[in-house]
Amino acid sequence: MITSAKPVISKIKPSAHKSVLLEAVLDGLMLKENDVVVDGTLGGCGHSLSICAKLGSDGVLIGLDQDSAVINRAKKAFEGVKPKVILHIANFRILDEVVRGEKITKVDKILLDLGFSSDQLDYSGRGLSFLRDEPLLMTLTDEVNQNRFTARDILNTWEEENIATIIKEYGEESFAKKIAKAIVKSRINKSIETTFDLVEIIKSATPSWYHHRKTHPATKTFQALRITVNDEIEALKEGLLNGFNVLAPNGRMAVISFHSLEDRLVKHFFRERVLLEQGKIITKKPIIPERLEIQENPRSRSAKLRIIEKTN
Ligand SMILES: C[S@@+](CC[C@H](N)C(=O)[O-])C[C@H]1O[C@@H](n2cnc3c(N)ncnc32)[C@H](O)[C@@H]1O
Repeated sequence: MITSAKPVISKIKPSAHKSVLLEAVLDGLMLKENDVVVDGTLGGCGHSLSICAKLGSDGVLIGLDQDSAVINRAKKAFEGVKPKVILHIANFRILDEVVRGEKITKVDKILLDLGFSSDQLDYSGRGLSFLRDEPLLMTLTDEVNQNRFTARDILNTWEEENIATIIKEYGEESFAKKIAKAIVKSRINKSIETTFDLVEIIKSATPSWYHHRKTHPATKTFQALRITVNDEIEALKEGLLNGFNVLAPNGRMAVISFHSLEDRLVKHFFRERVLLEQGKIITKKPIIPERLEIQENPRSRSAKLRIIEKTN
């Protein structure tokens, strides 16, 4: 039984992660030297380091990430920057609590760059990539213990119907029912333990043409499991609301999403703020990467950036 998943920090090379839509984020946030900025998804620190370069010594950057390995690496990355930098291992869903805990009453800018970084994909050892045979944890935090809910639990204990529902809803996978059926059939003989076990099951449940497309046949199922394990939809809803609540008047919030579920949620949240006369949408249409950025960083291809300004 898998009880822990300490990240293999020794294997971590200098960050290969490229920040997505960097210039658009910097322009859109309209940073001022003395701003208080919260980066709720620190990751490889790329956005935050560029933000720090725009802040002066009166500025503050609060960086959060739920992955302690990210925060440990970040401590070194910010050495010598001008603004005050405060780092926390925390989920952005409690962004407001973290800010108040620091005795800060209003934040000028917030950035959420959702999902996971390429470092996590490559080195976490938690089963985020279908290209490596790893334990099926799929947690974005490394604090995995006996009580923590993992993808392995879903695959080996959930009812077929519930597995089909999450794969359909969170993965938007058209073969959800077939995949769920194959999962439940497979676990009768042997529990499903690793990413490659799952990839084989997905392949057995889907037609061969589905295996030869640009997108790997396991992409949607992996996305669905990761979203469920990390409670990503609820975390985003709470993070948007709690973040907006601590924004100062004229403060801005920028959100980069990577799949339509997240983007729809952000779009509706922003529209609601406008209807409530609390906000003004800065990006009438989401900003997407130029072709060159997609060529240099294929991960950016599905990125959408939306920005809102608080009006009162
Ligand atoms: C796409 S990466 C961010 C990359 C970063 N902007 C950069 O330039 O390097 C997303 C990061 O957000 C973290 N993350 C995802 N959801 C989170 C949440 N709800 N709370 C805190 N951190 C989260 C992940 O652990 C990951 O490190």
